[in-house]
Amino acid sequence: MSRRATGLAIEAAGLTRSFGETHALAGLDLAVPAGAVYGLLGPNGAGKTTAVRVLATLLRPDGGQARVFGHDVVTEADAVRARVSLTGQYASVDEDLTGTENLILLGRLLGLRKPAAQQRAEQLLAAFGLTDAAGRQVKKYSGGMRRRIDIAASILSTPDLLFLDEPTTGLDPRSRNQVWEIVRAVVAHGTTVLLTTQYLDEADKLASRIAVVDHGRVIAEGTPGELKSSVGSGTVHLRLRDAAQRPEAERLLGTTLGVPVQLEPDPVAITARVGGDGSDLDASAQAARALGELSRAGIVVDDFSLGQPSLDEVFLALTDHPAVPAEAERDDALEAAR
Ligand SMILES: Nc1ncnc2c1ncn2[C@@H]1O[C@H](COP(=O)(O)OP(=O)(O)OP(=O)(O)O)[C@@H](O)[C@H]1O
Ligand SMILES: [Mg+2]
Repeated sequence: MSRRATGLAIEAAGLTRSFGETHALAGLDLAVPAGAVYGLLGPNGAGKTTAVRVLATLLRPDGGQARVFGHDVVTEADAVRARVSLTGQYASVDEDLTGTENLILLGRLLGLRKPAAQQRAEQLLAAFGLTDAAGRQVKKYSGGMRRRIDIAASILSTPDLLFLDEPTTGLDPRSRNQVWEIVRAVVAHGTTVLLTTQYLDEADKLASRIAVVDHGRVIAEGTPGELKSSVGSGTVHLRLRDAAQRPEAERLLGTTLGVPVQLEPDPVAITARVGGDGSDLDASAQAARALGELSRAGIVVDDFSLGQPSLDEVFLALTDHPAVPAEAERDDALEAAR
């Protein structure tokens, strides 16, 4: 890797880090452009937090190299620390202090004078919808409020690079939306954000590029659109009038489209991937042909849509396992790990 500035906030090559027998990072490569949200997407245990900890200089890699704004995370850790901020699975705030007290204290530590620290605290608390809770001890905050004060604390001074490690895990939809708005606002002010998430829709909504991580490696990288089109140019979603006709519909679609058809939990719903060669025209033509076949066979379709595959489908196609394993599989995996 060159030492010159490359317009990249993060460059990592071949990062490895093991914990005993567990290869948390198994040769991770990353190139994160400055000025946008970059999504690190992967299931539990993929290595996301380990990657963040290495890049934020909290953990030394066993091998490989990483630079943040051109500074090596091992040999120039201080220079890296001066430009990054981190929030997520780490407590940066003091539970016994109130929201206001925390932000003022951190502001003072960053060198702000008291009135400026106070003003910044008020500003952030208002922006994060925490004005009413400002005078309450943080340990009495709800999960969503806690997440927001954590992020507020991490952007007191505007970092060049902000690590957000699963900022919305466990939040209700309203709090998730609030956090998303905050992330967008942070990026609009020029901060680069490395966001780890298990939520495919979150990466899709926020990130301009995404790296899909599995078993400590990047298994796919690109814009959300590129990742989706790498799987197939479209997905047909169908809802039949009569669930009894689904086996026949499944068979017909399989023959017409020549692709495996997925049966949804809803007994009238079917999904199929079309246009694998990348042409949208092919996808719509194929979908039209499929509809024609169903109609000729007397199968009534109540609802039809042709869309890009979801990132969930992308993950499944890339890894052969879902992004979030089903409860039973999770239990099996836990059992096997014992
Ligand atoms: N300090 C540690 N000691 C031992 N094993 C660890 C440690 N930190 C991480 N691991 C293991 O390394 C692997 C990667 O963990 P990591 O926390 O990076 O995953 P993650 O992608 O952040 O997962 P999650 O979505 O659950 O937060 C896991 O198998 C984990 O158990
Ligand atoms: Mg993690």
